[in-house]
Amino acid sequence: MKITFIDRPIKEIESKLEIILIKKHKYLKANSMFIKENKLYVKIANFKHYTITETLTNTMRYINKINKYKSIKISLYGISNKKLQALIDGLLLGSYDFTKYQSKSKKLKLQNIYIANQNYKDTEFSYEEVKSKIDNNIIIDKNINLSRDMINSVAQDTTPIKISNWIEKELKNTEIKCTIKDDNYIKKELPAFYDISKGSINKPRLVHLKYNENKGYNKIVLIGKGVTFDTGGISLKPSAYMYDMRLDKAGAITIFGIIKTINDLKLPIEIHAILGFSENMISNNAYKPGDVIKTRSGKTIEIMNTDAEGRILLADLFEYTQDKIKKIDYIFDYATLTGSVEGAIGQYSAGLVGHNTKLKHKMIKVSKKVDEWYVDLPFNRYFFDGSYKSTIADYTNIPTSSIGGGTIMGGIFIDNFLKKEHKKKWLHIDIACVSFIKSSWKYHQYGATGFGIKSILSFLETI
Ligand code: BES
Ligand code: ZN
Ligand code: ZN
Repeated sequence: MKITFIDRPIKEIESKLEIILIKKHKYLKANSMFIKENKLYVKIANFKHYTITETLTNTMRYINKINKYKSIKISLYGISNKKLQALIDGLLLGSYDFTKYQSKSKKLKLQNIYIANQNYKDTEFSYEEVKSKIDNNIIIDKNINLSRDMINSVAQDTTPIKISNWIEKELKNTEIKCTIKDDNYIKKELPAFYDISKGSINKPRLVHLKYNENKGYNKIVLIGKGVTFDTGGISLKPSAYMYDMRLDKAGAITIFGIIKTINDLKLPIEIHAILGFSENMISNNAYKPGDVIKTRSGKTIEIMNTDAEGRILLADLFEYTQDKIKKIDYIFDYATLTGSVEGAIGQYSAGLVGHNTKLKHKMIKVSKKVDEWYVDLPFNRYFFDGSYKSTIADYTNIPTSSIGGGTIMGGIFIDNFLKKEHKKKWLHIDIACVSFIKSSWKYHQYGATGFGIKSILSFLETI
């Protein structure tokens, strides 16, 4: 679908359907709409940011349902400069539908959306300025939709090899350098990462993406958990908790979406994305409870539960990252790490863990502006006291005493693999709940949300 901003009155734009948002109407109830003489009248309660997004989400779903029009047009009437994002989010994120696996899914007729530069409220901005704002929001939302597609795609289509190739293909015409390391490399260099997929015929892959390397910009490193399917391994998950575990690659895909968006917006920032793809399977070769495995630096982990695989993968990725990349300004990891985060904070937010309270609060504050929510889950010193103490190895992979706080404890495990100089630069972002939702909300349907891309862009504006 193509969105074009046109510097002409709406009546001069050729299209069979014009969307008209109306605030006052005798008969129309909130959110209702009707078509009359090539015009779709939509009742809008007010022109606040989220009302615009919500109303346009409903409108687009309606248009796609009747599936009759090749193009539609809308003017900027009532939509101020600050609300352009609300408009584009409604049009693009609201109309997203994941139909790739439906044999009978209808092909959408809608190809073009025209936005007319008419009745625009903010006269202080030129057509070019408004156009560039619209275009930037289109870039962001298209990348969110691409990330949603990747996360939603099922495990047999997104094995570590297949998803790495897909990522490489998407980045072909960008400035991003893409290096894919194979299982032989991983076995030698990141042995703990290798071990968690020993039970799978689908071999792991490490993808290292670089943008603006050594150009003197701020340097952000993003690390992502990409478990393409999580059965739990020998500590097998119950069926009800297993069937949607294709979502377990959301961390890695989110950071792919972030780096691609930053490339497409040409932002002046050096960014590295380290993606670890692996499948946690069960077989006679799988890693087992009781095994002791070694990380890249030689630290040993006693496996007490093979379902706590994400933190092991991250441990090696952290050691790899800190060996390979110097002078890091920020180091953020994104992972669907703990089921307990949903019980703790619900499906609408990500859990934020780390040593730097100021940094966490900054992330929380800037993200609210783009309607993405994070909850600070604070460390306190008691959590650290011997909670991963193994009787035979350096660490266990799950806490040995039941002190609760599973999401915080996930962060505390990873912290063991972080160098001192990076402690204050680190955020652990647990997106287990918000990256893939079970009931539709805002401009999201069941499935992947693409959460996290908008908020980091907002964060980057402040550094
Ligand atoms: N991938 C899961 C976490 C998860 C659960 C993500 C539900 C999304 C929805 C992760 O690998 C896992 O299984 N974690 C365990 C950790 C526990 C054994 C310490 C969990 O949350 O139960
Ligand atoms: Zn697991
Ligand atoms: Zn997992």
